[in-house]
Amino acid sequence: MLFPQSTYIQRRQQLRELVGEGLILIFGNNEAPMNYPANAYKFRQDSTFLYFTGQHRDGLVLAIDCATGQETLYGDEIDIDDIVWYGSVTSVAEMAAESGIAHTAPLSQLFTLNFSLLTLHYLPPYRHDNLLQLMELLGKNRQEVMAGRSQRLIDAVVKLRSIKSAEEIAELERASHIGYLMHTAAMRMATQPGMTEAYIGGQLDGIAASHGSIVSFQSIVSMHGEILHGYPSAAPLEPGRLLLVDAGAETREHYCSDHTRTTPISGRFTQQQRDIYDIVVDCHDLALTHAKPGVKYFDVHLDVCRLMTERLKALGLMKGDTEEAVQAGAHALFLPHGLGHMMGMDVHDMEGLGQIYVGFDAETRPRLDQFGTNALRFGRRLEVGHVVTDEPGIYFIPDLIDLWQKEGTNKDFLCFDRINEFRHFGGVRIEDDVLITPDGCRFLGSERIPYKAEEVEAFINK
Ligand code: GLY
Ligand code: MN
Repeated sequence: MLFPQSTYIQRRQQLRELVGEGLILIFGNNEAPMNYPANAYKFRQDSTFLYFTGQHRDGLVLAIDCATGQETLYGDEIDIDDIVWYGSVTSVAEMAAESGIAHTAPLSQLFTLNFSLLTLHYLPPYRHDNLLQLMELLGKNRQEVMAGRSQRLIDAVVKLRSIKSAEEIAELERASHIGYLMHTAAMRMATQPGMTEAYIGGQLDGIAASHGSIVSFQSIVSMHGEILHGYPSAAPLEPGRLLLVDAGAETREHYCSDHTRTTPISGRFTQQQRDIYDIVVDCHDLALTHAKPGVKYFDVHLDVCRLMTERLKALGLMKGDTEEAVQAGAHALFLPHGLGHMMGMDVHDMEGLGQIYVGFDAETRPRLDQFGTNALRFGRRLEVGHVVTDEPGIYFIPDLIDLWQKEGTNKDFLCFDRINEFRHFGGVRIEDDVLITPDGCRFLGSERIPYKAEEVEAFINK
């Protein structure tokens, strides 16, 4: 376990108080076979289960009875066949004792509970095996199980996991340090002759693994930075283009980092690349000065969109009134995503609980009818202990440019002739992870991955 037992006991007590009544069930993850049962994907515990128990084994379920306070860890002991192949593991009773959970029971006992007499609270399952388990337990079909997820439990988990403690921040800093090593290696590799996207992607996996870590999501390594999640191809890097690398580390205890850098493969930015790159740098820095407790991250996003629009107007790519352009969503041709998302034990923290409940509240519901704004992942008022990403980008997406030009979308604000001069540009994104502090915010990680254009050029040419 990462933290002292008292941390997990306190978290469960807070959860019980927030939910108030009924039986809470939190499912751990099971092994996920890749191509046959004994050949599984690397096991990844569910983050919420880990948050409340600290235990990493597969096949466990935590039950908390809000009325009596009784906590039970359900799970089966492994048998001698498993011990022969994989070695001995901690027993369910030992894990429960370590986590301060008083009771244990085999999984079959969960099926003896009379769920029709209970007010049950469970989270929306995102893995099919857990969905099947719930269908079997409750005697309901898939839609009924999904509809029966507990909003009260979702809200309680979001409230607790959103605020990172000092001990969690220390672990996030560790993830950021590994992220620093990954990104600085990738930036150096980008200028080496004969290099490929795939090789860099493989090296990123290796650096994470060599620190007992994994990548926090499949690394994005692409000369097509305009493809927001562009995965590495075997293509050799082409001098003159930009390489966008968006990658992070996830520590053994599953705390994440998420950084993006965009590097000129020739070692120097062209003037056109520099014009766009410098706008993204300034948008990225603006978020740092605006993000503080009490401020809505949605407003920080809009401030970034206004600055981007002003600067794109100066380059002749946009026109018209800046405020009207941003309200109309014209900037989304270049920035079709939000400024950032929460980060923690999931790189998009708690996204499995429903992004709308994590990133928004009644005051900050996003417009779901507007392209770009509908892709925002976080708009809430910032609080001390929030960790969010700051990841503006400018992309030239040929298919989107063609579609908007053909349909005349936002034509009063967009200079399509000039935009078409950039249609093979690719994309730029710069991303860092930000902790909200009482005075404002600060980046996570003790070392900054170079990002200002001169710093980047100096670093890769050293
Ligand atoms: N870093 C990938 C993403 O935020 O979607
Ligand atoms: Mn991100």
